[in-house]
Amino acid sequence: MAAKIVTYEELKAHSSKDSVYLLLHEKVYDVTKFIDEHPGGDEVILAETGRDATEAFEDVGHSDEARALLADMLVGEFEKNSELKTKKAPQSSASHSTAVNSAVQQGSNLMYFVPLAMLVAYFAWRFYSNGSV
Ligand code: HEM
Repeated sequence: MAAKIVTYEELKAHSSKDSVYLLLHEKVYDVTKFIDEHPGGDEVILAETGRDATEAFEDVGHSDEARALLADMLVGEFEKNSELKTKKAPQSSASHSTAVNSAVQQGSNLMYFVPLAMLVAYFAWRFYSNGSV
């Protein structure tokens, strides 16, 4: 079964206490029933409707128990090319460049290591060949 795709229009349409959708990590959750039970109160959740709530949710450092509650509230995936860009895109490109940087870093480590190893091998060879003659 294909996951339901939720558009930005739909996300915005569920921004009142009668029906509340939250966008977290590119997925949309129906938190209408949960909002009254939320230990952090309803205002904080209502303040995050119609936009990417990921940062606010993660800033609090929610427990694994809190995350486990999300599974039952899932509506579907947030539309990728929706008007609202989620926070993830720039982050993933940043982590890509970090990966490239670390590859370059590794390359330059090797550039030092190879001549050094050759130098060590040369002195070892000289030491042993002198000793045997
Ligand atoms: C559907 C999404 C959410 C769920 C399932 C959820 C669940 C929970 C749970 C179970 C706790 C108790 C502590 C813990 O277990 O971590 C908690 C605390 C809290 N939550 Fe959420 N939360 C959600 C969204 C949000 C959002 C969007 C905010 C916005 C800032 C928020 C703000 C807080 C705060 C401030 C507390 C601390 C309350 C206190 O300790 O006094 N939560 N949440």
